[in-house]
Order: sequence, then structure tokens, then C-alpha cells
Amino acid sequence: MKIKKVKARKIINSIVEYALEVSIETDKGVFKSSVPKGTSTGTHEVIEYTGGIDKAVKNVNTKIKRSLVRTKINSLKDILEYEKKTEKYGGNVTLAITYSLLRAFAAEKKVPVWKLFTKKKKIPAVLNKIIGGGEHAGKNSPSFQEFLVLQKISDIEKNMDIYAKVKKDWGHHGRDLEGGWVIDVSDEKALKILRSYNKKFKIGIDAAASEFYKNGKYVYRNISPIKKSGRMELPNKNKDQLQQIKFIKMLHEKYDIYFIEDPLDEEDFRGFAELTKKMGKDCLIVGDDLFATCPERLKKGIKLGACNAVIVKPNQIGSLKKTIEFVELAKKYKYKTIISHRSGETNDDMLADLSVGLQIPIMKIGIGGGERVSKINRLLEIKGE
Ligand code: PGA
Ligand code: ZN
Repeated sequence: MKIKKVKARKIINSIVEYALEVSIETDKGVFKSSVPKGTSTGTHEVIEYTGGIDKAVKNVNTKIKRSLVRTKINSLKDILEYEKKTEKYGGNVTLAITYSLLRAFAAEKKVPVWKLFTKKKKIPAVLNKIIGGGEHAGKNSPSFQEFLVLQKISDIEKNMDIYAKVKKDWGHHGRDLEGGWVIDVSDEKALKILRSYNKKFKIGIDAAASEFYKNGKYVYRNISPIKKSGRMELPNKNKDQLQQIKFIKMLHEKYDIYFIEDPLDEEDFRGFAELTKKMGKDCLIVGDDLFATCPERLKKGIKLGACNAVIVKPNQIGSLKKTIEFVELAKKYKYKTIISHRSGETNDDMLADLSVGLQIPIMKIGIGGGERVSKINRLLEIKGE
């Protein structure tokens, strides 16, 4: 494959911050890609743009361009190997290049991108955000960041129905950063709302607990009153690790939660292991900030028995090669894999191709906003391809 031109520019993402777009031109056309960024980013994520976004644009348009037009890219392996050369410029720079190369190479081969990785097509289920909280929503919203519903792609209409119903039934203040409704309720009430629409479907939370873990306590901002000696009282809004584990267990039992992401701080491997031991038989205990898509951190988790599922976000580790290594390691140890969007998304729909290509059974995504819908629509397109 002959690379003729490489060009970068700044575009705007869904939270009105800059993102990098990379275009790569070959005989087959121009292939553009961009990469999202997070808001509740984990401490262990790689840097997105070394020296800032303007420097990233400059680096692609000069050094990387000079190197890429001279490099032979004739296989998927070549694309993944090339990542070593761009690593120092930042994770999002590397991935924008990789994604454009994948698109160019797929065009060369006359196949969709997902087919570069697998012949077997299995469409993942979608885990959709319905209610938002935490860092993604207002200060009267729940402390947990996400309240989710799991549906098959063929059931997507039903899912949107719940999304529409919550909008209609609850006085919301618009959408959060990922399209979830912002409503002034406690964490428990948000779960009650989701459950009230359907007793059977699988629901989930992303607590993103590191975001409200302060000086050894989980500090809740919107809590439900409880009945104590005949009177309604507000419970203690600061919980230590044991109280947090107890609280999560109570919610799991009361609302039959299937998916529980980052219920504890991102350094608390032992706490995650404890929760997995207690509840891992009938629900997914999912590490996002805990693992940060990093194979080394997952190895530690496996050793300690922390979690039985992982979030996969390529830009946390800034390399598709390492992301694949992470997914393979997770699968080897029977951890469920869930690929995920980020709060600062672009319209790039590569996430859908990666979920099918890497045979990841769940794609976590919002259903509000074009930057989320683009990935769902790409999944529908792959389904029909
Ligand atoms: P982020 O949130 O993209 O803001 O990091 C998503 C998540 O925590 O899953
Ligand atoms: Zn998360």
C-alpha cells in the first residue's frame, strides 16, 4: 500500500474540546480518523497529546508524515508495529494514525475494517446509558456516573423506548456528557426508576468511584432518606471501604444489577477482589479506571482475583496492539470484555468495527447525540453487510 499524503488538523469533539483528525491518502482514497478523550479519566491512562494538541498537529504534518510516506505497510502486523514509532507523540496521535491506516488497508483489501481481524461476525449487545450522574452531570444528580441498560442490537427500539420514557416521566435538566438524562435523584432512586420500566432486563451502573473518593471515604452528594425508629433520616453520606462494599451489595440484591463498573477506588485491587468473591457469581464486577486497558494492571488483577470483566478503551493505553494484548489476556482468564465510548467523543465509528473485529460481546455507548448514534448505526450497518 503506497501512502501518498498524511495530514492532521484540529476538530471539535462532543464536549467542545479539541480532538486530532488524521487523514491518510492512498490510491484508494482519503481515510480520516479521530479519537475520543475522557472526563473522568483514570490516573493510569497514557498522555493523549504530548506537548498539547497543536504540537500533535505539527508532529503529524512534519515528522510522522515524512516517516509514513517512506514506510511499507502491507499487513495488519505492519500497522500495529508502526505504533512504536508514534508512541512518544501521545496515545491519541498513535490511534488516529492506526485507525486511518486500518481504513486505508481495508480499502486496499476491499473488506470492511472488522474483517481485517476476524472472519466470524458476531454483533455485540449494547449497554446504553439512560441516566447520568457523577462528573458527567449536574451536582444534584446521582453520585454514580452511569445508569445503564443492556440490550441486543435487535432490541434497540425497546431500549430507546426506555430512554424516551425516562425523558418523559422525570423532570430532567437535559443530557449529560454522554447523552444520559440528568435528573435530581439519589443513586438508589435512579436504580428504582430503571427497574420500574421492566422487572427482567439487565441493568448496570458505572459508579466511577475514584471521582468521589476523598481522603479514604466515598463522599455521596445526593442520598435517599431512610426510615429509622419510625422517622425518615438522611444516612451518613461518607462511606469507608467496608461500608461502600456493603452498600453496593445491598443495591445489587435489591435491584438485581447485572453490571457493576468501578464500584471502588482505582487503586483498591483488594476491595475489588472482595466484591468479586462476594458477588461475582451472578454479576459482572468490571474494572475500568482500575485496569486502564493496561495488560500489566490486568495481570495484577488476575493474580488477586479482582473483577470478572474489563472495560476496553483503546485510548487509555494509546495503542491498538496493546489493546489487543489486553483483550486476549482478559479472554484467556475468562474475564468478560466490554468496549466503551468516552465522554469526549467524535463522530468516528471505529469502535463498532473494533468490537466486532476483536469479538467483544458488549459495546458500552450512549444513545443520545450524533457522536454516540454513529457507532450504533455502524453496528447496524455491519449487521447488514
Ligand atoms: P470518561 O467516562 O470517558 O469520562 O472517562 C467513561 C467511563 O468512566 O466509563
Ligand atoms: Zn467507567
